[in-house]
Amino acid sequence: MKSNSMPGRPLRFAILRGSVRSLLASAAGISFVVLAGAAGAPQFTSPIDNGPLEIKLLPGEKITEGVQKFYETGQDPYKGDPQALAEGKDLYETYCQACHMPDGSGRIGPSLIGDTHHYPRFTTDKGMFEIVYGGATGAMQPFGKRLTQDQILHVMAYVRSLKK
Ligand code: HEC
Repeated sequence: MKSNSMPGRPLRFAILRGSVRSLLASAAGISFVVLAGAAGAPQFTSPIDNGPLEIKLLPGEKITEGVQKFYETGQDPYKGDPQALAEGKDLYETYCQACHMPDGSGRIGPSLIGDTHHYPRFTTDKGMFEIVYGGATGAMQPFGKRLTQDQILHVMAYVRSLKK
């Protein structure tokens, strides 16, 4: 764990992550259930410490065809799809634009449309998914706790569409 990454991060997330990990390590039965929920998911890693990022389904969440495609190809299948972009825009307006601005130019959160990124993995779809799902430091919370993986892929497609 990078020592400079912790101060901005609420302690309870760190504790939660730690306890989830030890739970997984100690109870093979539980880890089976958790991993089975995300069958076929590639190994995702945290943008903060590069440690394994566990993917868990939200209550009632189903793996959609789009998510399955993403697991298999590492590509966000909703990029450039007009209907998906409209849904992504709604999600972006609700969950992201307060910090990243409507045009993605950034305010509390960094610009999402510039050529340089805080996290180099931003440029790949797998990497952006890891940032949005798992969160980063400070105000960038883990949206995997609030949005389905399918919704995250929709909002990501919209973010990519903002870049001119
Ligand atoms: C409450 C403010 C806030 C909200 C809401 C928010 N972010 Fe962020 N975001 C941040 C901050 C602050 C960072 C920088 C975190 C860091 O450097 O560790 C960030 C970083 C990012 C990055 C990495 C950028 C880079 O340069 O590497 C991405 C991608 C991102 N946010 C996408 C989103 C998306 C998509 C949403 C909506 C689902 C969202 N953010 C909602 C504050 C926010």
